[in-house]
Amino acid sequence: MSSLAIDRIGLLVTCEPSLGDGPLGLVRDAALVIEGGRVAAIERAGHAAADARLDAGGRCVIPGFVDSHTHLVFAGDRAAEFSARMAGAPYEAGGILTTVAATRAASRDELRALAAARRGQQLRAGITHCEVKSGYALTVDGEARLCALAAELTDDGTFLGAHAVPPEFLGRADEYVALVCGEMLAACRGSVRWVDVFCERGAFDEDQSRAVLEAGRGAGLGLRVHANQLGFGPGVQLACELGAASADHCTYLSDADLAALAGSGTVATFLPATDFATRQRYPDARRAIDAGVRVALATNTNPGSSYTTSMSFCIALAVRDLGMNADEALLAATAGGARALARDDIGRLAPGCRADAVVLDAPAPDHIAYRPGMQLVAATLVGGELRFAAGALGSA
Ligand code: NIG
Repeated sequence: MSSLAIDRIGLLVTCEPSLGDGPLGLVRDAALVIEGGRVAAIERAGHAAADARLDAGGRCVIPGFVDSHTHLVFAGDRAAEFSARMAGAPYEAGGILTTVAATRAASRDELRALAAARRGQQLRAGITHCEVKSGYALTVDGEARLCALAAELTDDGTFLGAHAVPPEFLGRADEYVALVCGEMLAACRGSVRWVDVFCERGAFDEDQSRAVLEAGRGAGLGLRVHANQLGFGPGVQLACELGAASADHCTYLSDADLAALAGSGTVATFLPATDFATRQRYPDARRAIDAGVRVALATNTNPGSSYTTSMSFCIALAVRDLGMNADEALLAATAGGARALARDDIGRLAPGCRADAVVLDAPAPDHIAYRPGMQLVAATLVGGELRFAAGALGSA
């Protein structure tokens, strides 16, 4: 088995406190040894034996970002809706149907190409693993097609048939929920790991959301919930009660929501680029962390509420506006994302983990929030393979 060393790392961020200093597990002047796509060892710079070498040139290396909430497969855009919002219009769940119409009209190959281009953008942004949801077809065949396309991109695909009530079911939401829980779930379950529901006023209420989640669980899927995005509501506590891996958005959290999250295994996943683009208030991540809630950050890439693949932007917002410090934000975008996906093989650079690493064009990870909007990702490796390089890194 051939090996690779990322050598002359000025600062290695392992996100595994037992491997180095502080909460980020920092190791200075290191080499990361990779074998069979996994981290094999951490050595001193210049002292690692390996078949090939990538010279980090004193840069900082971090674990690849784990983006635990994306809607990567869709057609069309909603720039006009965004402009209207910036002029004062509110974000409404119903906008999803604009993208449903465009996605239904697109061919499988068109959708595949669009999603692949967005995956390419993710790699430029240092995202080495992502979750991908369906939810822009809302028919049995259409959702099955989106789930199959998601499965081409990730082993963390999510069935989100309960994203909106489609126009042909207007006024018959319960009938649509029955379809989601029956024939649609049966057509999708084979290609995904998760089921999700948009539990919100204007989308699905508590009973409908519970029905979808229980049906998904009965089909062997793990649970995720879009919760408390546009106002206080039952989503977060439902997620905790049913043992969901993650409650996503969490923009509005009551004391009871915080207590439920802190007392459960459910991760609160914040999506600050969404609050930015919809002019919602930002969630109070500081309050959640101080209450003992485990947190993650994700991009929520989608054409309506968050058309970005920049995890760095999310980290900058989290530090600037959510009350996280730089270390907490980086952990939330790496190990936190992995936890939100119930995985321990990604999100850290520890022996045995998948060798998903990002070489930063910076000496330390706090530059991510400090230099917003700059391309600080010099190289992205997934499973030890170089998938993006901004320029030439030395190799031998
Ligand atoms: O997570 N909130 C529901 N779903 C997406 C938005 C989808 C859309 O507006 O197209 C979200 O923000």
